[in-house]
Amino acid sequence: MTLTLPEAGATLLSDWARGYESQPEEHSFWIEHIEGHVPVELHGTLYRNGPGLLDVAGYPVHHPFDGDGMVVAISFRDGQAYYRNRFVRTEGFLAEQRAGRPLYRGVFGTQRPGGWLANALDLRLKNVANTGALPWAGRLLALWEAAEPHRLDPLTLDTLGLDRLEGVLRPGDAFAAHYHIDPASPWDDGAPALVNFGLKPGLSTTLNLYEFDPAFRLVRHNAFEIDRFAFLHDVAITPRFAIFIQNPVRYDALPYALGLQSAAQGLASQPGRPSTIIVLPRHPSVGAPRAFRVPGGFVWHHANAFEDGDVLVIDSVWYASYVGIDPRTNFRQIDFAALPPGKLTRTILDLRSGAVRCRTFDQRACEFPVLHPAKVGRPYRYVYLAAADAPEGNGPLQAIWKLDLESGAQELWSAAPRGFVSEPVFVPRPRSAAVAGAVSPDSGDPERNSSPTEDDGWLLALVYDAARHESDLVILDARRPARGPLARLSLGHHIPHGLHGAFTSRVYFP
Ligand code: CO
Repeated sequence: MTLTLPEAGATLLSDWARGYESQPEEHSFWIEHIEGHVPVELHGTLYRNGPGLLDVAGYPVHHPFDGDGMVVAISFRDGQAYYRNRFVRTEGFLAEQRAGRPLYRGVFGTQRPGGWLANALDLRLKNVANTGALPWAGRLLALWEAAEPHRLDPLTLDTLGLDRLEGVLRPGDAFAAHYHIDPASPWDDGAPALVNFGLKPGLSTTLNLYEFDPAFRLVRHNAFEIDRFAFLHDVAITPRFAIFIQNPVRYDALPYALGLQSAAQGLASQPGRPSTIIVLPRHPSVGAPRAFRVPGGFVWHHANAFEDGDVLVIDSVWYASYVGIDPRTNFRQIDFAALPPGKLTRTILDLRSGAVRCRTFDQRACEFPVLHPAKVGRPYRYVYLAAADAPEGNGPLQAIWKLDLESGAQELWSAAPRGFVSEPVFVPRPRSAAVAGAVSPDSGDPERNSSPTEDDGWLLALVYDAARHESDLVILDARRPARGPLARLSLGHHIPHGLHGAFTSRVYFP
């Protein structure tokens, strides 16, 4: 067991902070520097989104969530890989690049230069399009939860403009960054359904729940009223329900309106207050919305949820409380040890009695849970996360972590001491290839000839290596991530620590 000494801690923090340097360059190329082999069955395109610029013409953003969105695409076929990164040409990005200075206030803390007078009563938000990527029906959207999505060309990543989804969204309507895909929707004869939501915030909140078919046609839309301010980043779905966790945060908009702080800096944790689990019906025949009190905390992301009769199981990454970045703090000097770690926690809710039980799986700090796409909303066994290198305490995300929720077994692949990981994306091995036992560079493994298991696939993650100030795309065998990468694809430049990604089986080669 290695203890992190203060001096080493400083190095770790400066390494991590360097991963938040802006990446102003855009590239497109065949990836040539590959350690190991890209599995020949890996077929499709990985999209990742995150802040690409952490400054505007030298003025640093105050919070990485305010950075301009940059989408990365890596397409795979026959062991070859093609890379591209492009900024989303949002109205704000184009205007600020032209002006050579910040013109907007960021939601999470970035103020325009000039102090509070320059910021007072400027309530325009900059849609930075930096949070999620949604490939669906041949369309590619860059998502930002407080406004409309931007549509991109899925091959070139050129920005095609705001996408209001054929009139489903009105100007300014929100479309969240955390959609989920029901692999077999009971309301659509077992066809897949894309479930997403949008919040219209205020003293009370309108929550719009949208569902789309595989051709991106709206098949369900329900609006729910929540009688207070709500800050909801993610949703979990089951066949019958859409589930939200409303955390105990209050919102004080006055300092924002006066220009003293940004919109999200008006959020404050309310210690001692409960969280609320909001259970919404996906279909009117399911019944009315319901709400349940649980011990307070803060959740950004859910791993999954499923139904067991009238019991709901919801797995999420829970923090003791919400932590913002106050106006005087530079996020690059954040003290990880002083912040509460996120822990993977199961909430078991009896819908009849309202009884709730919670169980934390492990003490390791973690974020960005993902799973096999066919298990969304269903009982499942394996979850994969980005995690801290140390088994306890808080720290930057440096490892890819697999948990077997049935047996409790776990595996870890760590990029520490100088590597930092992004959210992993799980890609199932194509069923036909797995059944046929097709030969691939990673064959020779006796498990290859068994029938497909829930963890039969790959984990794709961008890894920032501070030693080289470059990022790599790492491909792990999801069955045995601790064995280390099957392939490590060198990009030759760094990608700032990002947010969310997605995989589509479509290949976009030039
Ligand atoms: Co998120």
